[in-house]
Parts: sequence; structure tokens; C-alpha cells
Amino acid sequence: MSKAYKVIDHTYDVVVVGAGGAGLRATFGLALKGLKTACISKVFPTRSHTVAAQGGISAALSNMGKDDWRWHFYDTVKGADWLGDQDAIEYMCREAMPSVIELEHYGVPFSRTESGHIYQRPFGGMTTEYGEGPPAHRTCAAADRTGHAILHTLYQQSLKNQAEFFIEYFALDLIKDVDGKISGVMAWNLDDGTIHRFKAQMVIIATGGYGRCYFSCTGAHTQTGDGSAMVLRAGLPLQDMEFIQFHPTGIYGAGALITEGVRGEGGYLTNSEGERFMERYAPHAKDLASRDVVSRSMTIEMNEGRGCGESKDFIHLHIEHLEPDVIAQRLPGISETAKIFAGVDVSREPIPVLPTVHYNMGGVPTNYLGEAVQPVNGDTDVIIPGLMAVGEAACVSVHGANRLGSNSLLDLVVFGRAAADRCAEILVPGAKQQDLPGDAGDSALDWLDSRRHARGSYSTAELRGEMQRTMQAHCAVFRTEELMAEGVNKMADIWSKMDDLKISDSGMIWNSDLVETLEFDNLMAQALVSIHGALERKESRGGHAREDFPDRDDTNWMKHTVAWLNEDGTSRFDFRPVHNYTLSDDVDAVPPKARTY
Ligand code: FUM
Repeated sequence: MSKAYKVIDHTYDVVVVGAGGAGLRATFGLALKGLKTACISKVFPTRSHTVAAQGGISAALSNMGKDDWRWHFYDTVKGADWLGDQDAIEYMCREAMPSVIELEHYGVPFSRTESGHIYQRPFGGMTTEYGEGPPAHRTCAAADRTGHAILHTLYQQSLKNQAEFFIEYFALDLIKDVDGKISGVMAWNLDDGTIHRFKAQMVIIATGGYGRCYFSCTGAHTQTGDGSAMVLRAGLPLQDMEFIQFHPTGIYGAGALITEGVRGEGGYLTNSEGERFMERYAPHAKDLASRDVVSRSMTIEMNEGRGCGESKDFIHLHIEHLEPDVIAQRLPGISETAKIFAGVDVSREPIPVLPTVHYNMGGVPTNYLGEAVQPVNGDTDVIIPGLMAVGEAACVSVHGANRLGSNSLLDLVVFGRAAADRCAEILVPGAKQQDLPGDAGDSALDWLDSRRHARGSYSTAELRGEMQRTMQAHCAVFRTEELMAEGVNKMADIWSKMDDLKISDSGMIWNSDLVETLEFDNLMAQALVSIHGALERKESRGGHAREDFPDRDDTNWMKHTVAWLNEDGTSRFDFRPVHNYTLSDDVDAVPPKARTY
């Protein structure tokens, strides 16, 4: 089959797949270290979804009150509901301060305090004094367009350091050498239809999350987790895929994000009775409790008939009481978003919001250096040679069962840089690489070809819609055995219909029908292991709330779920222990306890 395609070969030291915050930070870090690096992206780098991150990036800089990275560490462990790896969390929180200062020096236009320091706002779950003190001002912001500011700066740094880009190339699959080691990537140039085989000593997956397997999502339509699906197709596992974060404040109907920074600046939620209901659920942190807590509380309010509107299916978010200057300076982006997507003037009326899929805590299992790992014969941390992952595509795991807001932009830059540093330690620039097997990449082209010429009965949009509605209804904020088992059956039915897909365009140049079909394949793979994992995990923890198992069960379930996707669309599971230890004596591991806000 592959004979039908002429393949253009390239050799690099490292190939980075994805050009969001993590991919770009890794890319120019590698270029700086003298490693010949290619960064492949299906979208122009500054269109990557990092551009849409709003509220900020966390770091205990103490610009607006006393702070300490160890308090940040404690908050992150608690926010993660004790599923986070504490060695990696220590690394991230300690590295946060130099990483943000580095961004400032690279040129990120952060908002400023009167004294000229980086402006920092409160965010959900970020406290002082190990949870005993007032909210921390820890989230460094560029108004409410922090991701935009960071992504553009990282791209500028990449250009400055002569990183090489392959823009609007769709990565198809990983390739392996004769020993089975990951040795590169196959990609399709969307612009001229050519096929490219990239050979490399290391592949770094930085393709973000897969939020688009849900119907309502704050993420871009391009958020289809292509790299993680490549990992599954290579016979490798993903970790903790059942943990899917619902952001409390997506705009009702549109799903567009309204930043948590709104509540950090003093915004609050009310139900149809005008009650500030978060005071009942989280008496201490109230509207600034962690996202899983706020999303569950909102869902309970709606389920119990106290939602707003005729159908009682949204909640009100208020900022009418804020000074116009605060709105203009700190929240200009969401004012515009609320006007466009909800027709609301935020200075006069509340914004209709509801919990909306926002982030995937799961992904490619890695250690804190970015190296992909998997359990093999009882050894739970076996490094997968040739493969790394960073950003939302990875599960380091610093976010455990629930990510704190503003820890994502941090994760991107800290672990993007860590991966580049690790490559510089273990790779030799220009080292000779093994020849690839003659058929390297053929299976990727067989897949491409089968989809390109699919002439069945179902359109991609039809089946994708079915998948999104199924995940939305059967694997959402609250879950039960019965609901998820029904969802698993529906997903199996969709999986079987995928043999009968219909593509109407067989061209190779800007064939959006084919791109969306490959993306749908990628989404389905990840949606399947997610819902299977959710059914498997019989407890409630962080973003995984089971009505039939309402408590966290540390005895049986304080462990990472590791899932492989079988060829028949079922999943196989193993587990990895949570790292309940730190990297140094500078901070003590936090033992599990009840999680209240
Ligand atoms: O609400 C927000 O601004 C989102 C931030 C985040 O997910 O980290």
C-alpha cells in the first residue's frame, strides 16, 4: 500500500510533535543545547491551544504577599487528591519561580503591580501556610490573556534560536527501529500532500489534550490528542485517563472559557435563588475551592432544581460589582467573550455558566525528566527508549486526580525545559542512528490510505457527534456503574461502525475531511481508554466522582491506572504506585487526609 506514496526522509537528533507551550519550550531548549531538532505542528505554532489560556501561571514569587514554594507544593498535592507524584510536584513548584522569571526575561508582557513587579492573583485551591492561611496571590497574569502572551514569546525565542519547524504537518504515527525502539515519526504535509519520515534519537510528544471527545469543551476543535493516540497505536499505554477536568465556568451553550481569574478578582457564583451556594460546600475557600469541588457543587445545585433559567441548567457568575477599572485592566478578554458568546454586558448582568470539559489529567506516563515510562513484569517505572512526553499530553503526574488552575502553564514550561535538559544529558548531537527497517512507516500509510479511500455509510461528523454525546452523557461530572456500562456499550457500537466510514474527498492537499477523520480515530482511542478506566476505578477521587463509590479509597486505589488499547477496542489495565516521596529533604511528603476547602 505504502508504495503509492513517495516518502521524503529526514534525520534529526530530536523530533518534537506539537508547538504549544510545552512543545515550543522543549524545541528551543533543544536548539540552545546544540541538538538538531524538528518541531512538527498541524497548526501554525501561535494557533496552538496554549494561546487560549487565560488566568495565569503559578509561582510562589511573593510579589503580592508572603508565599513559599512549599505551600504551593502542599496545595498541589491536596488539589491532586493524593494521586500526584510528590517528587514531580516538588520539582515543578520549586522550578516555578526561576521558570517565570525566565519567561519575564524572554519578554512575556506580564501585568504589573504599582511597584513594577509581576502581578499575581488568587486562584482556586492556592493557599498559604499549608492550607491554614488566606488565599495565596500566586498566579502570575498578563491580564486574562496569559497563554497568548507566553505562546508568542516562546515562538519568538524559537525563531531567535533557529529552531526548525514543519508547520501544518499532521503527525501520523511513531516508527520503530529493528529493535522495537521508538525512532521517529511519519507525517503528512497538509499543504502540498507530501509524506515525510522523520528519523530521530528521541521523539517528544507535546500534542496537548483530547477534550474534543466531549460535546462541550473549552478547548479548540484541534484538541484531539494526536500524539497520545500515536502512543496507543504503538502498543504503549496511557495513564490515569479517567481523570477529566470540568472547568466550572464555561459559557452556557458555547463552552467558551471564562477564566477562574474572574473569581480570583472577586467574582462569585449564585443559583436561581440568588444564593452564594459555594459557602455551603466550601465554607473556607468558597468560590475559590478547587475546580472539581466547584464543578460538583454547581452540578448538585442544578440537579436539585436550583439552576438558573427556564430549564434550570446553568449557574450565574457575577462581576457586576467589580470596579470598571479592574474589569478593563484585568479581565478585558472575558468581557469580550461574554458579549460575543452570551450576549452579556458583564458590568451589568451575570454570565450564564456551567461545568465544561477543560483538561485531561491523564496522558503518556513519564518521570519528572519527561521520559516516558511503563510497567513491565512488575517493574513499574521502565523507561521507554526514544520516547518522551510533555505538557497536557503527558501524565508526569503533577496534577494527579485534579489539576489546580494555573498549574498547567507552569507544567508546560517547567517540563518542556526539563525534557530539553534531559535530552542534552543523554543524547550526543549528530550521533549515528540505526537504519530504519525497510517497511518503517508502512502501517501509518496503510491507515492513512484506508481512511482516505473509505467509502462506507457513516460520515465522520455523524460518528464523532455520537462519541461526543456519549462521553458527555455517560462519563461526566458524576458517574455510576450503570451509566458508564451503558456508555461503554454505546462506544463499542460506534467503534464497530468505524469500519463503515465514508470520506468524500480523497485529495491529499488540505483535505479537511481526511484530517478530521484521522483526528476522530485519535479521539476514539483515547475516549475508549478513558471510559473503560472510569468504569474500572471503583472510588471517588478528584475529577472522578462516582455516586456508587462516593469515598476516596486509599487502601485499594491510591495508584495510577495504566491502560493499553486492544485491537478490538477494549482496554487492558495495569497499575503504577503513586510516588508518595519527595526529591529532597527541603519538603516533607504530605500524607493523605480528608480533603476539605
Ligand atoms: O480559568 C483559567 O484561566 C484556566 C486556567 C488553567 O486551566 O490553568
